[in-house]
Amino acid sequence: MPALAARKQQTATEHSASRPALLLDWYDRHRRRLPWRAAAGERADPYRVWLSEIMLQQTGVKTVGPYFEKFLARWPDVAALGSASLDDVLRMWAGLGYYSRARNLHACAVAVLRDHGGVFPDTEEGLRRLPGIGPYTAKAIAAIAFDIRTMPVDGNIERVVSRLYAVEEPLQQAKPRIQELASTLLGPSRAGDSAQALMDLGASICTPKKPACALCPLNDDCAARLHGDQETFPRKALKKAGTLRRGAAFIVTRGDELLVRTRAEKGLLGGMTEVPVSDWLAGQDDGAALNQAPELKSVTRWHRKAGVVTHVFTHFPLELVIYTADVAARVRAPAGMRWVPIATLADEALPNVMRKAIAHGLDI
Ligand code: ADE
Repeated sequence: MPALAARKQQTATEHSASRPALLLDWYDRHRRRLPWRAAAGERADPYRVWLSEIMLQQTGVKTVGPYFEKFLARWPDVAALGSASLDDVLRMWAGLGYYSRARNLHACAVAVLRDHGGVFPDTEEGLRRLPGIGPYTAKAIAAIAFDIRTMPVDGNIERVVSRLYAVEEPLQQAKPRIQELASTLLGPSRAGDSAQALMDLGASICTPKKPACALCPLNDDCAARLHGDQETFPRKALKKAGTLRRGAAFIVTRGDELLVRTRAEKGLLGGMTEVPVSDWLAGQDDGAALNQAPELKSVTRWHRKAGVVTHVFTHFPLELVIYTADVAARVRAPAGMRWVPIATLADEALPNVMRKAIAHGLDI
């Protein structure tokens, strides 16, 4: 291996070997003070760790803080919570949402009292068997409360790791790899601090937008930062295009006026102006679409314009065939429709798809 390449490789290895230490060193200086965290060097209380992790499952740190304090003041340990009534627990939980968490919280405290003598199991597997504790929460409690060498990966950690290693796969598929890579950031001890260091890094420095890379303890060999595209990680899966829908639009003129109507308030393009259209359906055929033309006695023949108008909505692409007709002066607009001067169309709330249909139908 050429000398320079060898040196580069050696440097990379040294860096990755020191990442856990760099991370812990940073955590010791910059850790967030959160009500459920033990003071530096002190053992965490499994009850507090468990209570906070359940609350943090679907709720942010800021909101959880006061709830955590209230619960702790009223039920200082698992024996107290396990002896409380479910009604009291639900009342205290009110406002945190996802109430199945409160039911499971109570059931879990009861199970710890009844089946474990009031002591939380100290393995991931043991924790997993308790109500309300899934794989992530079991890892978090095992690492933070019992210093078991396991890495819980939450959204913040996913972002940090996907940037550090420039993980190109979309997040949904990359989860197992990110779990593996995150685990390499564990040192020989202090697993809980390593996990919380990554959580804090994600929350305060490696933020979704405008990450403060200059302050990051791992900035030296962050693969995404080296490319300057850190904000683009984690990668997202391409949105599914949705199934093509088809329909017809009817461009009816009465001299220099156009027949329009207002869409229903609710739903796609709610309350906007449109020319009469058929349903927009995946299996729509031209005959069925033409059958939904507005009822205008004076129109005996619809003229079909060559070509189609296409438009892409967020959830589906649309293809419209355009039919035109011109009616005599004083022909009444069908119920729910109205005539507007073509010259004042700009004052109407016309969505883009309608602008395109009208432009195609009127050759403008
Ligand atoms: N989110 C979930 N668990 C957390 C913890 N222990 N510290 C900070 N944020 C968290």
